[in-house]
Amino acid sequence: MLRTIDVSGVRYRVADEGTGPVLLLVHGFPLNHTMWSAQIEEFSETHRVIAPDLRGFGGTDGALYAVSMERYADDLAELLDALQADRPVIFCGLSMGGYIAWQFAARHPEWLGRLILCDTRAAADSAEAAANRLKMADIVSKEGPEPVAWAMMPKLFAPVVTPQQQTLADLVRKMVLETDPVAIAAAHRGMAIRPDVTSLLPNLRFPTLVIVGEHDVISPPQEMRTIADAIPQARFVQIPAAGHLAPMENPAAVNRAISDFLQTTR
Ligand code: MLT
Repeated sequence: MLRTIDVSGVRYRVADEGTGPVLLLVHGFPLNHTMWSAQIEEFSETHRVIAPDLRGFGGTDGALYAVSMERYADDLAELLDALQADRPVIFCGLSMGGYIAWQFAARHPEWLGRLILCDTRAAADSAEAAANRLKMADIVSKEGPEPVAWAMMPKLFAPVVTPQQQTLADLVRKMVLETDPVAIAAAHRGMAIRPDVTSLLPNLRFPTLVIVGEHDVISPPQEMRTIADAIPQARFVQIPAAGHLAPMENPAAVNRAISDFLQTTR
């Protein structure tokens, strides 16, 4: 069921499907909950799957000038409360959704049971990358989402181009172009100031699954393996025939990895 719910002055659009333990799916930048379609379909058979559009994205309003990863994490805790979700939840985030996961784990551990991190990073931006983000935020505010689509599209997918990948790329481009430029700029400004969480990884006490597409150039497999090695209860799965958007590019393999993890951890 796609529902809308008002929480602290923000009107959220959120997919809320199935019953059982809560699986919270947090999308990447600059996308929305529909990137998780294959996971919503599969896991709503056994779980209550909650997949919101983050503040300003998709069908959710409330975009600000800048939104920190901490703010998105607090938004999610408030949203779960408003949805009367059972604790603990399984938090699954992709890329920016993973940056938010670190903050959720630090700020709202009482909500968290298990963590799934897809194609994400623990490191902060370099000074140069942060400066580029701030520049891009200003450009997008003036010109709309097109420049961000141009900058990101070549980095999102595995290199082999099949007709299915082309369809997927068209879908993702459309999703980016339909995103509110204010939300894109706000998230860019938030990601530019996100903290380096590498030193926190050894303190994470949750069963954790780390997933990465073998061709991911934004959060490469070697970097994600290092993240998994630093988290005491983590396992690492590399997804074949996928880049940065592994859950969309190879949903069968990602769903299998998630399903194995859910069945063998508590
Ligand atoms: C994402 O997929 O959320 C982005 O690649 C995150 C980023 O720009 O660092």
